[in-house]
Amino acid sequence: MKSSRRSFIKISGALTALATLPGSVKAFYQDVKKFFVPPKQTIPLTININKKPYKVTADTRTTLLDLLREELQLTGTKKGCDHGQCGACTVHINGERVLSCLTLSAQTVGKEVTTIEGLADGDQLHPMQQAFIECDGFQCGYCTPGQIMSAVACVKEGHTKSVAEIKEFMSGNLCRCGAYNGIVESIQKVAAI
Ligand code: FES
Ligand code: FES
Repeated sequence: MKSSRRSFIKISGALTALATLPGSVKAFYQDVKKFFVPPKQTIPLTININKKPYKVTADTRTTLLDLLREELQLTGTKKGCDHGQCGACTVHINGERVLSCLTLSAQTVGKEVTTIEGLADGDQLHPMQQAFIECDGFQCGYCTPGQIMSAVACVKEGHTKSVAEIKEFMSGNLCRCGAYNGIVESIQKVAAI
């Protein structure tokens, strides 16, 4: 209780100090910021997502993950860590799995992006989606789109010869609920088709 009061007083003090900084110091800060942080630069892009062309204007630094979720409302792809460590954002580019949080939108021009929304064939679920349901491959479901996209690629790559191999090639996708047994079973089921 004491320490939070102390922190509050410290933060309030810092904010008051910032507000009372002379104009010249603030202007200097803006100059330094301009020097180190490049200004926003937007460019027009046409990106094929789930076999449909999307015309967008995006900042050159926009990741594919942010473009999908924030601009195009394709929110099936999930943001977990935003640092390439959890696999929740996995999509396919030209059929290969990639982490969309580490991919710039501009890098995907001229390529085919597939997200979890593009996996089903109309009302017909993809066999991997069906297998996840049948084998209890998910609990809360947050990691699931990334797991399914990776699982589809894992089967396509042929890395399904043993449970150990499946675990190795799915190791970039983390699940907090621990649905791993169901995920492995789903992959084995689809690999056997
Ligand atoms: S959100 Fe991309 S790897 Fe975690
Ligand atoms: S099902 Fe919850 S994080 Fe994987």
